[in-house]
Amino acid sequence: MSAVQSPGADASSSSVGHILRPGLDISHKVILYLDDISVSFDGFKALNKLSLAIDAGELRCIIGPNGAGKTTMMDVITGKTRPDTGTCYFGQTLDLTRMTEPEIAHAGIGRKFQKPTVFENHSVFENLELAMKMDKRARVSLFAWLDDTGRDKIADTLRMIRLDHEADRPAGLLSHGQKQWLEIGMLLMQEPQLLLLDEPVAGMTDDETERTGELFISLAGKHSLVVVEHDMAFIEQLGGKVTVLHEGSVLAEGGLAAMQADPRVIEVYLGR
Ligand SMILES: Nc1ncnc2c1ncn2[C@@H]1O[C@H](COP(=O)(O)OP(=O)(O)OP(=O)(O)O)[C@@H](O)[C@H]1O
Ligand SMILES: [Mg+2]
Repeated sequence: MSAVQSPGADASSSSVGHILRPGLDISHKVILYLDDISVSFDGFKALNKLSLAIDAGELRCIIGPNGAGKTTMMDVITGKTRPDTGTCYFGQTLDLTRMTEPEIAHAGIGRKFQKPTVFENHSVFENLELAMKMDKRARVSLFAWLDDTGRDKIADTLRMIRLDHEADRPAGLLSHGQKQWLEIGMLLMQEPQLLLLDEPVAGMTDDETERTGELFISLAGKHSLVVVEHDMAFIEQLGGKVTVLHEGSVLAEGGLAAMQADPRVIEVYLGR
């Protein structure tokens, strides 16, 4: 994709870009902190005094029955839904309940919805290029030819999402699983510190699911990941701490084996 020339562009845009992303204070190792969050829809409590903390670099899985509040929790974190009560912090200092959706995205929280939303008529490479240019922090690159750093970043991402041999293919011709990887790659182009992934392997083949697990494991550490899933084999592969949500609050938390042996978890979710 060739660059667009804009009359307003100048070199000073690059310094503005850095100011848009405040430094994240994770000195207490916690990257995301939810406390006593409640959300009601017409009197029904979708979230009910939910408290949760995610460590920097952690790969956390969230499970629970339909309607438990998993997606609503992600809506609160990303600013789509305002909680009635409670606090929600990104790092030590950023109060997410006082930020807009774009501010939260710019602060470093990326969200993957269930349905892949890629630009079908553009190549895989161009999709990643567009994602990089949509990053407000790198605004100057929208008005310039892609530089070597940008190219390297796209090449690294293509390898990571296993689409390096598909770079020139129109995204519309990819399999469902490949489209999901491309969308994850597009999120990664914006270098989020925290990734929220809502049912990322739904509709994938077993092989694609396993490869997705490998990708998430490789991303943990550098990024923090919160993964909502119903696929227990996938959660077992990820191997992180599991939080069980039920009726809008945390029912239990721990290793998957402990959750699978917990009578309360079996009763509300796994035993069905
Ligand atoms: N905008 C809304 N208006 C009214 N009710 C809502 C809204 N969003 C969610 N709910 C309700 O809140 C509850 C929690 O929904 P949520 O989507 O968070 O569940 P979930 O744990 O993601 O479930 P699933 O596993 O099916 O995706 C459900 O009863 C749902 O119907
Ligand atoms: Mg959901």
